[in-house]
Amino acid sequence: MNRPARSELGSHWNLDPNCVFLNHGSFGATPTVIREEQRRWQDLLEHEPVHFYEDLAEKFMEDARRALAAMLKCDADDLALIENATSGVNTVMRSLRFEKGDEILVPDHAYQACRNTLDYVAQRWGATVVTVNIPFPISGPEVVVERMMAGVTSRTVLAMVDTVTSPTGLLMPFEELTAKLESAGVSVLLDAAHGIGMVPLSLDSLGASYTTSNCHKWLCAPKGSAFLHVRKDKQENIHPLTISHGMTFPLGDTTRFRHEFDWTGTRDISAHCALPATIEFMASLTEGGWNEIMEQNHQLAIKGRNILCEALSIDAPCPDEMITCIATLILPADGASNGIPLHEPDPLHEILQTKYGIQVPVWSWPSPEGRYIRISAQLYNSEEEYRYLAHALRQELNF
Ligand SMILES: Cc1ncc(COP(=O)(O)O)c(C=O)c1O
Repeated sequence: MNRPARSELGSHWNLDPNCVFLNHGSFGATPTVIREEQRRWQDLLEHEPVHFYEDLAEKFMEDARRALAAMLKCDADDLALIENATSGVNTVMRSLRFEKGDEILVPDHAYQACRNTLDYVAQRWGATVVTVNIPFPISGPEVVVERMMAGVTSRTVLAMVDTVTSPTGLLMPFEELTAKLESAGVSVLLDAAHGIGMVPLSLDSLGASYTTSNCHKWLCAPKGSAFLHVRKDKQENIHPLTISHGMTFPLGDTTRFRHEFDWTGTRDISAHCALPATIEFMASLTEGGWNEIMEQNHQLAIKGRNILCEALSIDAPCPDEMITCIATLILPADGASNGIPLHEPDPLHEILQTKYGIQVPVWSWPSPEGRYIRISAQLYNSEEEYRYLAHALRQELNF
């Protein structure tokens, strides 16, 4: 089978023409126009660095926060521009204080780097991280709600909830969970790394204490652009990982939260400056703007998943409503992980890459044990690419 072409919109990305790129989920991919836009900001900065940082940067960052806030239905003043979701989770966790015996709830599908942060902070305070098992395959979102709420005790103070889980690609019922947990007195830290541009987010009505999301994933913004949203009543206790001038700078008509997060030392803010243009450009690629992008990607992920399931005679591990623009499947592989330990590369990943030119993650996962593959769907992908992946898998798994 010949290597398939991308969709028509694929021409907006400068992706390797020899690569069938089915892994937008890991690091995103940024259209050429936006990369040029970022370079324009960098050029402006280097044209007169002092003028840029001292006179202009604050306004540019405010423009970026306002553009995000319009999409996120929240107050722009509650947003901090940060580099990535990992630092968003770290910012919150390393700001909070815990009592000995406090419990922090987390599903077992959490992203390992963020889970590590929870473990590290909990251990320092004598708090306990309580892991909730979420089955996979799973019949519906109610199972997640039931399991997570069953994990709440009188000692639970915080829950880290994903919008969409990284290993299993599950759309968590994060709105219902947030409402239930917050009203039970449990602060929610929403790990929405797969969030903005992938699922609609209305942060003010959502009511989570803390939300962090990557713009460099599904918004397709340049790398190193993310935000942390902190509910107003929680802002006093949340400080950036880097303490800088903002801690003592005269307040004027703004808040300490603003001052502290707007200046965390000299850094390249070009990715943040490019956010308004990114949001606008991406929306212009479809008639229906962002809602249509999310829906198209969702439909393509469903199609891609169906193609793989049919070709490999496997069942989808969750209903269509529980996937967004990524979908994880459990590969038929001796009923187990092929003996490959977690964190070790699966040779199938390399074979798909070198022999077929396909970039798609394949790995082993312990709960339940198995060999997993995760496809992504972005505007540049075509249905043919999933057929080609199905063909390659059939060849390599001896169908
Ligand atoms: C659920 C989840 N949380 C956090 C992250 C970390 O994102 P970053 O590396 O941009 O900090 C990822 C990355 O894939 C993720 O999937």
